Amino acid sequence: MNMKFYIGILILILHCLFLTGCAEKDETVIITFNVGRDPTGAHYTIIRQFQENYPRIRVQVVESPQDASLQHDLYVTRFAGKDRSIDVIGLDVIWIAEFARAGWLRPLNNLAEELPMEDFLPGPIEACTYRDILYAIPWFTDAGLLYYRTDLLEEYGFEEPQTWDELQEIVITIRNDSPHLSGFLIQGEQYEGLICNIMEFIWSHGGDVWDETGEWRLTTPEAETALQRLIDYIRIQDITPRGVLTYQEEESRHIFQDGRAIFLRNWPYVWELANNPATGSNVVGNVGIAPLPGKEPGLHAATLGGWNLGISAYSEHPEESRKLIRFFMEYEQMKQFSIEGGRLPTRISLYRDPEILKRSPYFEDLYEVFINARPRPVTPHYSQISDIMQVNIHRALLGRISAREALERIDAEVLALFDRYGK
Ligand code: GLC
Repeated sequence: MNMKFYIGILILILHCLFLTGCAEKDETVIITFNVGRDPTGAHYTIIRQFQENYPRIRVQVVESPQDASLQHDLYVTRFAGKDRSIDVIGLDVIWIAEFARAGWLRPLNNLAEELPMEDFLPGPIEACTYRDILYAIPWFTDAGLLYYRTDLLEEYGFEEPQTWDELQEIVITIRNDSPHLSGFLIQGEQYEGLICNIMEFIWSHGGDVWDETGEWRLTTPEAETALQRLIDYIRIQDITPRGVLTYQEEESRHIFQDGRAIFLRNWPYVWELANNPATGSNVVGNVGIAPLPGKEPGLHAATLGGWNLGISAYSEHPEESRKLIRFFMEYEQMKQFSIEGGRLPTRISLYRDPEILKRSPYFEDLYEVFINARPRPVTPHYSQISDIMQVNIHRALLGRISAREALERIDAEVLALFDRYGK
């Protein structure tokens, strides 16, 4: 009897222990981190560290294609279906107004109180704010830059080009001897990256999509000259190979780092990869970086890009998601992410960090370019505007319509959109 009693107690204890074990196990929360594919993979290191610091939170990385337009459409479909499997999400600067307006993002003002917001770059913070509410925290920023081959320019006695005419001259001279080299690579496929490139052309010719009164107007002499220049580069002068009409960031980076081009327009991440022998780069130590040229010296412009971390309004784990975002934003983590991934940090103090400057010395010289990077049109209808521009600009680059026709069609379609939905 006694024996049975003790065995009973033992079983009960074991049972309780088992249940506690299960309960503890159940407390582990799995959150998803939804981001576009990053060729540097630097976020994995930070996530590993986060899991060591927060052993009860597991982070499942859900990667989508790097193509920003594809990612956008994918998320729109998932949010429209109130998909609960998205927790933390990497957001392109251009999506925030649209997603916030649709009610798909959680306001993050409470998280901002825990972070030194005065240390964050003002441009990206503005892009993360919709109607005075912060919906994402800037993770890294982007600005379009000109990469060039220092060895080739030196050999021919050229300085880095200040103007588009100088760039042309350099390409023509070097290609005279080496016709197999491409001149100037861009991202010309029909997707979001094309808009970043064309805006830089338009701004650097003194144009814009808005006129002095704040109304939309792209049919201007400046925009036409800019688009015509790019058409000529591709279709007449062969400054830019026709292949760019199917290139995104990665295709153009590979050609440049293989040593098959003189110039490349791309984002800052290329610096780290093109200078890293482990990536198979053939141009290590021969890469220069500069502001993009302008029609005149000093008239250069960079498109503001960048990615921000937000939390889905349908997430069932907002607390854990918040912790992950906060972790990514801490000085040390952002520093490591910037060093490993070659990304531009969003915290101002990191631009003075000696280790960062040692790895990316150009951060100091080009800081002005980064903070003056210009936003694409800020409106909740941006993705429709972008689609309209992508189709028409791409057609013009294919030679199917003229520069003027492309701009007129864009104006007509965008104004019809504003008439229908407001600006
Ligand atoms: C980069 C930029 C992003 C832009 C995209 C276009 O990822 O950060 O803002 O939309 O390129 O390809």
